[in-house]
Amino acid sequence: MSKKTIAVLTSGGDAPGMNAAIRAVARTGLTSGMRVLGIRQGYNGLLEGDLFEMDLRSVSDIIHRGGTMLYTARSPKFNSPEGVRQAAEMARKMGIDGIVVIGGDGSFRGARDLTSEGIPCVGIPGTIDNDIASSEYTIGFDTAMNTAIDMVDRLRDTMESHSRCSVVEVMGRRCGDLALQTGIAVGATTILVPEVPFDLDKDVVERMRFTKKTGKKHFIIVVAEGVGGVDRLAKDIEARTGIETRATVLGHVQRGGSPTRRDRVVASEMGYRAVTLLAEGKQNRVVVMRDGKITDLDITEALAMERTFNKKLYEIALKISI
Ligand code: F6P
Repeated sequence: MSKKTIAVLTSGGDAPGMNAAIRAVARTGLTSGMRVLGIRQGYNGLLEGDLFEMDLRSVSDIIHRGGTMLYTARSPKFNSPEGVRQAAEMARKMGIDGIVVIGGDGSFRGARDLTSEGIPCVGIPGTIDNDIASSEYTIGFDTAMNTAIDMVDRLRDTMESHSRCSVVEVMGRRCGDLALQTGIAVGATTILVPEVPFDLDKDVVERMRFTKKTGKKHFIIVVAEGVGGVDRLAKDIEARTGIETRATVLGHVQRGGSPTRRDRVVASEMGYRAVTLLAEGKQNRVVVMRDGKITDLDITEALAMERTFNKKLYEIALKISI
């Protein structure tokens, strides 16, 4: 029987820890006697045949680096039945028996479609947003959160000196997890997330007034990107409270930097499991964390799951940050 060839790609927004996952995939594949190919720039690279042969040293000195050594892309061309067919044809031409796709939900939809075109795929959740319903954890979340905490701690220093209010936007288009956890960790007076509707007077201004009466002079409001509008919010807060208010959008700084211990370890374990699944002949699976353990699910079932926001933790945050 000929040697099995697997390939690995990263797709969608990058996340710290993706390199650790690539490393685990390459090393597990190679030490299990497989041929391993790296695909550059996500599905675009597959369409264009932008691949290279990996050896044990191709993934040296990357476990501590942010970004992705394979580069990444969002590929509109791949996002059509014709694009998927062409990508599958290219994979067959390159002798690929299976692909590990590291990315978010959009990337998993691509993996599912490629599997239906005859190319077995396994997904690994990699996105700083933690917005994948089937997995309690996505690679990059811990690093991004720690970056956001560090940035807000810096803002707090200057807000405190000037007795000001800081309205800070953290990433998360559809998911408030980054905002919630960052907000708790920095003691934000209010946390605004897309999952919970809010009233400016009741949920922001009143809380600030109450806190001020008890002696607090500076305030931090953490806002998820999905809520947005921090400039407007800052102006409205200043107008209603008379407290000088500044808006800050943290932006892409949250997507870079050296991954934390948690992201390196989870990525390594997930990468190992993805290759083990392909070695066992499994396909259309996604590696996930459930009840704190790394396991796997059918991609189609995983994609149909609905995310639940941790309302209990949100209530705790509001109760103690006052
Ligand atoms: O999905 C990760 C993420 O960083 C989101 O939080 C954010 O909305 C989006 O990607 C930004 O995408 P881009 O890098 O294409 O601007």
